[in-house]
Amino acid sequence: MTETKERKQNMLKIGNKEFEKLVGMAPLAGITDSSFRKIIKERGCQFSFTEMVSAKGIYYKDPKTEELLHIDPEEGLVGAQIFGRDPEILSKVIKENLNHREDIFSIDLNMGCPAPKVVKNGDGSALMKEPETAERIINAMVESSTKPVSVKFRLGWDEENINFLEIGKICEKAGVSFVTLHPRTRKAFYAGKADWDSIKILKEELSIPVMGNGDLFSKEDIEKMFRHTLCDGVFVGRGALQNPNIFGEGESLSLQKIVELIKKHYSLKIAQKGERRAIPEMRKHIAWYLKGVPNSNPLKNKINTENNLQTIFKLLEEFEREQE
Ligand SMILES: Cc1cc2nc3c(=O)[nH]c(=O)nc-3n(C[C@H](O)[C@H](O)[C@H](O)COP(=O)(O)O)c2cc1C
Repeated sequence: MTETKERKQNMLKIGNKEFEKLVGMAPLAGITDSSFRKIIKERGCQFSFTEMVSAKGIYYKDPKTEELLHIDPEEGLVGAQIFGRDPEILSKVIKENLNHREDIFSIDLNMGCPAPKVVKNGDGSALMKEPETAERIINAMVESSTKPVSVKFRLGWDEENINFLEIGKICEKAGVSFVTLHPRTRKAFYAGKADWDSIKILKEELSIPVMGNGDLFSKEDIEKMFRHTLCDGVFVGRGALQNPNIFGEGESLSLQKIVELIKKHYSLKIAQKGERRAIPEMRKHIAWYLKGVPNSNPLKNKINTENNLQTIFKLLEEFEREQE
């Protein structure tokens, strides 16, 4: 076999797109909005998701939900991540609201969210406890969608109920385009180490692409996950917040580049949401971008109580000059 043919065979295909080595961004509620997706796309992220969006919210045309589904062309490939447990509603919103949207590349079902307000309604990771319901939902999604459908799930509800293989098999049978495993239980939330061995096992057991997720904080971690699990692609979560360069070469940013990045992020967020919302929303990003930058705590504290954009930019510039 020629080398090109061999490479082609190893190539990951999702819908009509091919990826040589997929490194994308995992969905993070309250974080991966349109502005953040633009920031990471510029830095080499190949695929990202909306924040999780309620299927019912789409169904009832809730304006906040509609905003969560706002996608601009500069963002590259974006999957809409939805949560819900009613096959009919999911099917209806896919057919009536999502299928015709050219800006949405794929549709992802959230079966991983551990938040009490989500699981109390039987959504998110609570679906792991109901494989039959999950199967009905996933079948309905695949049947209704003209786009690739994917599912993101955890190891199981708790240590006594590990069923990621069962859920993976359900996805495979339903015709899902890929699955993403966040290898923690619902009970663990985000604590402890992600169990990469389970990603490896899932990859061995399924014929559909398996994406790895969990504890990817550097380029080296990404390489290690590919080697350890033989997964088809990875989705980075929290690691991209401090260093959005993790998608590219992985080098950490100089202070000058961090300040440039922060200003850019402000302007993108303001363009989407206006200054009054962007200023408080940016505070957490600034804390992440400046994590580990020496002497930056007083700056972060000042920015946390400052509501004037010009003053914030001045504080950032002063800090940059002082550190030279
Ligand atoms: C603040 C926060 C918000 C998250 N929101 C979502 C979400 O909307 N949908 C989802 O599937 N996972 C969500 N997750 C889980 C992440 O996508 C990811 O699976 C998890 O953080 C593990 O990856 P990491 O160790 O690289 O962060 C969220 C995680 C965090 C910390």
